Amino acid sequence: MSVPTRAEILEALTGEAGPLWERAAAVRREVFGDAVRLRGVVEITNHCRKRCSYCGMSRDHRALPRFRADGLEEVFQAVAGIARLGLGTVLLQGGEDPRSDGLLEGLLPRIRSALGLRVILNVGERPRAQLARFREAGADGYLMKFETSDEGLYEELTGSRLADRLQNLRWLRELGFRVGVGNIVGLPGQTLASVAEDVRLACELRPAFVSASPFIPSEGTPLEQVPPGRLDLVLRVLALYRVLLPEALIPSVSALEKLEPGGQVRGLQAGANVLTANFTPPAWRERYVIYSPRRFVVSLEHARATAARAGLEVDPRAAC
Ligand code: 5AD
Repeated sequence: MSVPTRAEILEALTGEAGPLWERAAAVRREVFGDAVRLRGVVEITNHCRKRCSYCGMSRDHRALPRFRADGLEEVFQAVAGIARLGLGTVLLQGGEDPRSDGLLEGLLPRIRSALGLRVILNVGERPRAQLARFREAGADGYLMKFETSDEGLYEELTGSRLADRLQNLRWLRELGFRVGVGNIVGLPGQTLASVAEDVRLACELRPAFVSASPFIPSEGTPLEQVPPGRLDLVLRVLALYRVLLPEALIPSVSALEKLEPGGQVRGLQAGANVLTANFTPPAWRERYVIYSPRRFVVSLEHARATAARAGLEVDPRAAC
């Protein structure tokens, strides 16, 4: 499908919503049937060298107690729990913390050979050579959300350059990763036209995975007083992603549930088809504060109940 214009996207974001929901539901059914896929996530470090003003794990958030998994065994056991439950994919996630690279390089081959799981990384930007080492060690997916396509806004909020992130995305693709991108809806200073541009950029990047999350004001960050993103707008973006990128795996993220109980059910109904259950050891989990110290932690039970409430079935073995 050709990449739509910003005006076409704006029309879908603001016009009558009924046809959009119907098209998204039809595309999802046609491509994936009634199945929702499950991933497990393990968070391996909350150290981060970036200073994103929306994020509770920013390096400027001095009060936050930090952790870094340094024993291979502890993480391996958490990941093994995911395999035991029959899930096919683990997402290893962390702040941008190059000091965790050694651990990851040791862990990846073991996860592949001993557990047979597919691995997706979400650990931030690296030099190309390091991304290549992750790939060789056995990672096959990599998430790198661009957050906003607006260069000025990106720089203002993250203190870093969007061009660097897009360069990383190009490297990931060249290295043969299945690439995931995503945006945050409702950032301060973001216009509707800017969100439309985010959708356009995501389509242009032809991702295997794509996500949209509402902005959640996180306590203890400079943006804690800013109102959250609008659920209906995030849902429209998800529906558009389903229509424009029919084969993409689209998670219904926990921030939707934080915004409104039942938000993840609505995400699935809008066109998402992946849920991510949390398997981080509890002592680390509570320090992983991205969008809130009281973020919504998805259990496997919650994921199953969410799928059921959306009228969908869980397909745990399907790799994702
Ligand atoms: N609201 C929504 N999403 C957030 N993230 C971090 N902070 C927030 C927030 N306040 C998301 C970003 C980031 C990921 C780690 O968590 O998309 O890439």
